[in-house]
Amino acid sequence: MLTTVPCLASVFPSTKTASLRRDPLWNSIQAEALEAADREPIMRPMLERIILNHGTLERALVERLAEQLAETCDNPELLRRVFAEIVARSPTLTSVIRDDLQMIRRRDPAVTSNLNPFLNFKGFLALQASRMTAALWRHNRRPLSLYLQGRISTVFGVDIHPAAAIGSGVFIDHATGVVIGETATVGDNVVILHDVTLGATGNGEGDRHPKVGSDVFIGAGAKVLGNVRIGHGATIGAGSIVLNDVSNGDTVAGIPARVVRPATERFSRTQ
Ligand SMILES: CC(C)(COP(=O)(O)OP(=O)(O)OC[C@H]1O[C@@H](n2cnc3c(N)ncnc32)[C@H](O)[C@@H]1OP(=O)(O)O)[C@@H](O)C(=O)NCCC(=O)NCCS
Repeated sequence: MLTTVPCLASVFPSTKTASLRRDPLWNSIQAEALEAADREPIMRPMLERIILNHGTLERALVERLAEQLAETCDNPELLRRVFAEIVARSPTLTSVIRDDLQMIRRRDPAVTSNLNPFLNFKGFLALQASRMTAALWRHNRRPLSLYLQGRISTVFGVDIHPAAAIGSGVFIDHATGVVIGETATVGDNVVILHDVTLGATGNGEGDRHPKVGSDVFIGAGAKVLGNVRIGHGATIGAGSIVLNDVSNGDTVAGIPARVVRPATERFSRTQ
């Protein structure tokens, strides 16, 4: 079980040691931050605090999340240490964070740097914070987990229940209004636009939320309701209401959603 709270130096390697590690993604974020600080001196103190003073992506992420979420917390330092401890004790988180960042770069043609999503994309930050709440939930620290779920919802406008299982390489784009319920699952390499709900119908109990496969695209404002299966590679059109299973690779749209392009007529998508 996770226990608070060793000092940060004991859960992270020193900046000097860590910076010697090979981590192209983190190196590129630091290089971009340096360039931004040179071009916009007004941003330098913020970039130093959040990016340049840290030796690893994980440490910077902890700082960013703690700073954003600690607003009304009595002890921001404690929150920082809890996040740091989760990252240090969750070996898979390191690759998941990078998969999420790389997915943004792959799927959003407007994104041409790694610094921008790391610093500014609330979908990325909300998802990483939710991964922290999920770890707390799994370690039976539920009051803190639920408290943070509420903070994430207030700060980022994204409400993900800590028990929901979210895969790797997930991109929540624009993010405002995204709701993911307790028994929902989301596969790998999934794109979810703003105002999407993966919710219950209100009629059931227990396992009542959608199961979304890998490589799925869910357009803005879509509502997927009930314990339905969204097959791998499926696409859900903007504004749709999905009440039934969707087969692998199919595109569905409308209210209620119907197949508008079967898997046999696949196409490439950008948003
Ligand atoms: C569904 C979608 C992926 C298009 O898929 P497509 O295979 O290219 O489909 P088409 O555009 O050829 O449309 C096929 C049919 O579906 C309908 N359709 C497409 N998108 C729809 C939607 N969101 N809601 C309802 N019907 C839709 C079309 O009107 C067309 O109907 P018809 O066969 O009666 O003429 C796309 O329309 C969509 O909704 N993308 C989400 C984009 C998004 O969220 N953008 C926000 C960015 S900030």
